[in-house]
Amino acid sequence: MQFGEQQDLMQRIGAEFGWSPGSDHIILSRYIENHNTSSSANIDENNLLISWHMEHIGKSNPAIGASWNMRKFTCRPGTGNTLFCDGIGLFDKLNKDDVSFLEQCVYSWRPINSKKLKPILLEPIRNHKITGLKMAYFPPMPNLNIGEHLHQFAGKEPTKENKDRFGSLMIKLSCDVYSDESIRTIQQWEQNDVIFVDLTRMYHAVNGGFSENEREFEGIWAFDAVSSPLDNL
Ligand SMILES: [Fe+2]
Repeated sequence: MQFGEQQDLMQRIGAEFGWSPGSDHIILSRYIENHNTSSSANIDENNLLISWHMEHIGKSNPAIGASWNMRKFTCRPGTGNTLFCDGIGLFDKLNKDDVSFLEQCVYSWRPINSKKLKPILLEPIRNHKITGLKMAYFPPMPNLNIGEHLHQFAGKEPTKENKDRFGSLMIKLSCDVYSDESIRTIQQWEQNDVIFVDLTRMYHAVNGGFSENEREFEGIWAFDAVSSPLDNL
């Protein structure tokens, strides 16, 4: 698929998904991803080259959708898989008590390695924009206690107990992202595959097993039309 065709499909599908008020308003941003800054050769197909993440979480204007067009894929089949974990599936695993706790939490977050950005306030349980279903929204980091990032509980300054519980729930959810295959889908790539991703709900990661210059896709981000991609700089 040529870039013009990808762009046209992105506008049409984006309008269907409600990624913008209408296809004329969608803000598209083109980029090439080949992971050539990573040491991809040392990480095999059963291990993560790019760790699990929710795209741009902590930025004021995260990408809400994307199309990824695998223009070049000359590595072995089954290498470089993209893994997805559904935030709605994660929410569905929580018990009522934990949901009720998390619904009263507000945490403060900015992307790791983006010290220039100010942290923003986020709710760990939110309604998915398209379906209205509840989903979990947080940075999946099983080795990091993010309890200290709890900003408010039930509209008040959080106690140590609130922070501890928030921290352990975030670790539990992060472990689910990393290990629960029942809420995982896997994109096993072939050259010329094009996929459209709802980035408001899908956590994702990339497996290794390929070398530089063997795998390259052309991506188009969709941003919410109410703010500009420049907000991310
Ligand atoms: Fe990503």
